[in-house]
Amino acid sequence: RTKYIKIDPRVPELHKIRLAARILQRGGVVAFPTETVYGLGANALDSRAVKRIFWAKGRPQDNPLIVHVANLPMLQALTTHLPPQALLLIQRFWPGPLTLVLPKSEVVPPEVTAGLNTIAIRMPAHPVALALIKAARLPVAAPSANLSGRPSPTTGHHVLRDLRGKIDAVVDGGPTYVGVESTVLDLTSPVPTILRPGGITKEQLEEVLGEVAVDPAVLGEGMSRPKAPGMKYTHYAPEGEVYLVAGDLPRMVRRIREMVETFKRKGLRVAVLATVETASSYLKEPRPDYLEVLGSREDLSQIAARLFAALRNCDRQRAEVILVETFPEEGLGLAIMNRLRKAAGYRVIQA
Ligand code: TXA
Ligand code: MG
Repeated sequence: RTKYIKIDPRVPELHKIRLAARILQRGGVVAFPTETVYGLGANALDSRAVKRIFWAKGRPQDNPLIVHVANLPMLQALTTHLPPQALLLIQRFWPGPLTLVLPKSEVVPPEVTAGLNTIAIRMPAHPVALALIKAARLPVAAPSANLSGRPSPTTGHHVLRDLRGKIDAVVDGGPTYVGVESTVLDLTSPVPTILRPGGITKEQLEEVLGEVAVDPAVLGEGMSRPKAPGMKYTHYAPEGEVYLVAGDLPRMVRRIREMVETFKRKGLRVAVLATVETASSYLKEPRPDYLEVLGSREDLSQIAARLFAALRNCDRQRAEVILVETFPEEGLGLAIMNRLRKAAGYRVIQA
């Protein structure tokens, strides 16, 4: 049975935090909110507990986990060396959606890092996550709390839908804020390299580091030799077939409307993920069976926050085809497009 623990995200009730922390200390797995998405946590120093995460998610064993810490001593215990760049980034962005890949220390069992000699670590900016890690007095390994391959969960209900009965507890602190996962930055390569774009943008990292590289796989190029092992699996995929449509805005809209018509004529249920700026164009015939407005193009943080829930809503609506507008790959747009490309299995239609 999965315990359901509803908690106040701003002032987490201490007895509820303690209850969840005890489950972690006894080797259990607990889903909890972070500022990005819900994580599925276990004691990062206990390989049996960590194996239960892989089992519950159906996650491939060679995809390493992120370890969450609540203070600097916890970080120091997990790494052998903190480069000066790490300290600058930590000062600026922690707690927050930035994960650093660093050389790992002996205490970390191989299950966490899938046998790599590096470890991915972050300090989440969510009162519930921080309180839980502190109360457990343990580093907490936590991938996103979804079934492997599904869109990441941004509410407690998403977690239950995927993992009910397979995990010990869900701490439900309401919807997450950022909506896309943390940026994964490799600090063990000669030039700091973004392995996964996320809540902290490339532009923000450049302000601190100067030069920052982006792994080609982030842009969907050269998928042959992925460095973040997670990059090679299907990800974020709803049941329906996702198509991204690229081009300038009027062409994109026109092309999506044509596709709505074609797919509907074939008898398929069609969903469109649109924006405030374009939504009204889809209200006239040919109308999609389901229309979701992600937010305004002027504020990509809204789009990011709603993205995964929107993909899950398409499933609830039984959409067989999901047509999605694209976004400029600047700022949060890089993370949004990276998730969308994966959800689409790299199907991009040029309008
Ligand atoms: O926002 C987030 O990061 C969320 C919340 C729960 O914190 N967590 C999350 O974890 O997204 P997960 O497991 O779904 O994604 C971890 C990513 C994967 O792409 C994985 O391959 C990469 O981090 N990663 C983990 N350890 C690594 C390492 N040692 N070297 C390179 N990439 C690593
Ligand atoms: Mg994930």
